[in-house]
Amino acid sequence: MAAAPAAGFPVVPIVRLAEILVTTLVLIWTVRFRGGLALFSDNKALIFNVHPVLMVIGLVVLNGEAILAYKTFPGMKNSRKLAHFMIQFLALCVSVIGVWVVIKFHNEKGVDKFYSLHSWLGLACVSLFSIQWGAGFMTFWYPGGLKNSRASVLPWHVFFGVYLYTLAVATCVTGFLEKATFLQTHHIISRYSSEALLVNALGMLVVALGGLVTLAVVSPCSNKSESTELHLSRHNL
Ligand code: HEM
Ligand code: HEM
Repeated sequence: MAAAPAAGFPVVPIVRLAEILVTTLVLIWTVRFRGGLALFSDNKALIFNVHPVLMVIGLVVLNGEAILAYKTFPGMKNSRKLAHFMIQFLALCVSVIGVWVVIKFHNEKGVDKFYSLHSWLGLACVSLFSIQWGAGFMTFWYPGGLKNSRASVLPWHVFFGVYLYTLAVATCVTGFLEKATFLQTHHIISRYSSEALLVNALGMLVVALGGLVTLAVVSPCSNKSESTELHLSRHNL
């Protein structure tokens, strides 16, 4: 197989910029265009709005930061590992609350549940993410597997981690599409309204962010000492 591509440009700062932009745009959309955010309200639309915000922050932004922690966090192997699994834990909590909110919204509005492809993808994503976190914790932190089994599990852990990140991006995109289509077919917004363009741009940006995070994961480190440390850590795990 060909070697992984070297980014050749400062990919991590660009990832950070894209993460800030995605977070800002999802907040502008839900607060400025959709009326705001609330966990409890008579205006049920405000409860729904919390869902995209938490899902994007949890499974795209925090998940991406956690995946890159081995490349971005200062310190030795164990502090990077701690940062990696703590940020993933935060991502898991935020995303579980995000799914709870949309189920609560459906219950309070009396809408059917789990009928769409988006909702199926979403359930798969959050369930697999919880399993990945639990399996990662038990293998690499506590009680921790034997050295041989950790070494054989790691490639699968990395593969499923990148796969789940991609699945989260796909799930967000189907969510944006579903919401935009709903707003357009009910004539709440028009096809070329600034809100429709904002939602499309947000979806495109999430997809671009997904590509950048994947590139950052597969790219060899440009910093030689860091590269050596990562190499050693792969052997000691
Ligand atoms: C859903 C949660 C998780 C996801 C999506 C995930 C994903 C990933 C990904 C994509 C990598 C590759 C990073 C790279 O090569 O730069 C990785 C590495 C790793 N993860 Fe996780 N992870 C999760 C949870 C955990 C947990 C709970 C632990 C427990 C400590 C853990 C321990 C590790 C270790 C030891 C590595 C190897 C780092 C190295 O290359 O030395 N992960 N993870
Ligand atoms: C990885 C991120 C996401 C996950 C895991 C996820 C998960 C879910 C789940 C499980 C449901 C079903 C709730 C029910 O049927 O009671 C749902 C509904 C919904 N979500 Fe998401 N979601 C994500 C991101 C988004 C985003 C970014 C949007 C953008 C607006 C969105 C829009 C919607 C809409 C409109 C519904 C209601 C209609 C339906 O059931 O499909 N979601 N989501």
